[in-house]
Order: sequence, then C-alpha cells, then structure tokens
Amino acid sequence: MPSSSLSHRKSAVTKALLKWYRKNARPSPWRKTRHPYRILVSEIMLQQTQVDRVEQKYPLFLRRFPTFQSLARARTADVIRAWAGMGYNNRAIHLQKTAQRVVEKYRGRLPGDIEALQQFPGIGRYTANAVACFAFGQHTAVVDTNVRRVLSRLFPKQSRSMDEWDLAEWILPKRKAYDWNQALMELGGTFCTHRNPNCSGCPLHRHCMSAFKIKKIGKPIPAKPRKAIPDRIYRGRIVSILRNIDHHRSMESLRLAAMINPGFRSIEKKWFDSLLQRLQRDGLILMRRRQKKLMISLPK
Ligand code: ADE
Repeated sequence: MPSSSLSHRKSAVTKALLKWYRKNARPSPWRKTRHPYRILVSEIMLQQTQVDRVEQKYPLFLRRFPTFQSLARARTADVIRAWAGMGYNNRAIHLQKTAQRVVEKYRGRLPGDIEALQQFPGIGRYTANAVACFAFGQHTAVVDTNVRRVLSRLFPKQSRSMDEWDLAEWILPKRKAYDWNQALMELGGTFCTHRNPNCSGCPLHRHCMSAFKIKKIGKPIPAKPRKAIPDRIYRGRIVSILRNIDHHRSMESLRLAAMINPGFRSIEKKWFDSLLQRLQRDGLILMRRRQKKLMISLPK
C-alpha cells in the first residue's frame, strides 16, 4: 500500500500510466484519426459494443459512409443494415439524425463545443466530452464505465466523497488529456477489468489502493428459473430479420412474431404490438396495412 502523500501518489499514477500507454497502446483505428466524423462514429460504437467487435465493424461502416454528408443522405434502411452485429440499433438512427443536423445546421462541420455536442440525438455527457477531447484536442476529463472503475479502485476514498466527473477532473493531468483518457480506458479494458482484474500484471499496482484486494467474480451462475428475455433482445431479433430480407420487401407481423419467438401465442399479441409500435417510433421499422395484414419492413 502506498504511504506517500496524495499529491505524490497522483503524480506517480500519472507518470506510470502515461509511460505504460506510450509503450502498450493498441493500434486501434480510432487512435489514428482526429477527424470529428470518424471520432464520433467510433465513440458511438464503443459506447455499448466490445472493442474487438468495433475494430471489425468500424472500417466497414466508414467505407460505406465516409462523411457526414454520405450518412445524412443514405437510406435509413441501409444505415441499419450497416449497423448489423453492433447491437442497440437506436444508435444507428441517432447517428444518422446527428449527421443530418450537422449537414443542415452546421454546413457539415461538427461543433467542438461540449454544450453544443450534447444537443445532438444520442450524444450524452460521455460522448460529448470524448469527441471534444479526441477530435478537438480539448483538455477535459472523459468518464465511461472503464474510467469510473479504474479511478474508484485507485482512489477509493476520494471516489466515495466526490462525484465521478469531479474525481476524473481532479486526477486529469495538466497536459496530455488525450493520452491520459485513452490510457485509462485501455487499462480498464485490459488489466483493471470488472470481473477478473489482473493486479499482478498491472502497471499501477504499486500505486493502487485496491490492488490484490478485489474479489474476483468469475463466471456468473445462471439464475434459476432463467430470467425472462428482455425486450431489447426481441427488438434486435426483429431488426436483424428485416435486415436480411431483400430490399423493399416486408414481412407479415405474425410470421415475424413466430420467427423471433417460436412459442408465440395469441395472448402475447399486445406485447408484440407494443414492441412494434416502439420500434416504429424509434424510426427502426415501418408498419403498413395491406389487405388486412400488418406488413413490417425496415424504413425506406
Ligand atoms: N477504448 C475503449 N473504449 C474506448 C473509447 N470509448 N474511446 C476510445 N478508446 C477506447
């Protein structure tokens, strides 16, 4: 356990982490660009999808939609198709709406101001700060789940008395905010993981108040009886089926219901209808009546 003063510990942590990052940063594609569009796409993807998966999908998405303009004018159905494999399809809709607003209101240039960024759909405090720092070089803290976990383990006492963003601002070094924020995320995704932190290999173990004290969680034991499948999964299944039928084609709602849930019974109709309504409201599907049948497709 470190015994030096807090300010010494802070600067020791900063030095050790930046040194480690310089030598060990993974060459992820979003680290090779500062272009606001490319950074925004990466940050939206990284919000809820594993780094390995984003590394595969990110270059494909950018090849298909290389600019705000190309994304803004694309067919929404094609954007949803290009999002396949990422999960949380609402993000694709928000990203396209953001691109449309950037083109219409900002002549195709994303503003770098944190307040302005937060006005776009799907951009919250985390994404706004990440884009401000990674694309516009602003000196600001960025807090995602990885950063929150790493900082609360390094500084448990301060994390109990400070808001997580205040804690991140407090520890933010005076220079190199980009490297610092990237390094915290990298450490949280490699050594300082949620379930199985590898304290013995961690470059900060000598400075960390929690090193070797964290209970390893291991694989969770499946609860019995199994929990109901959340609606999010059914939503994903519906969009995924619609993505894979030919362009312009639609599918009858009852067939779709049977495909996402083979045990579908008429008593579940209300639930299924509300699932469809919500998907339509989010802009992910289109519902039309044709000869008494309800036909579902991706939006045009
Ligand atoms: N590495 C892991 N998550 C990241 C993120 N959100 N932004 C940049 N690099 C990351």
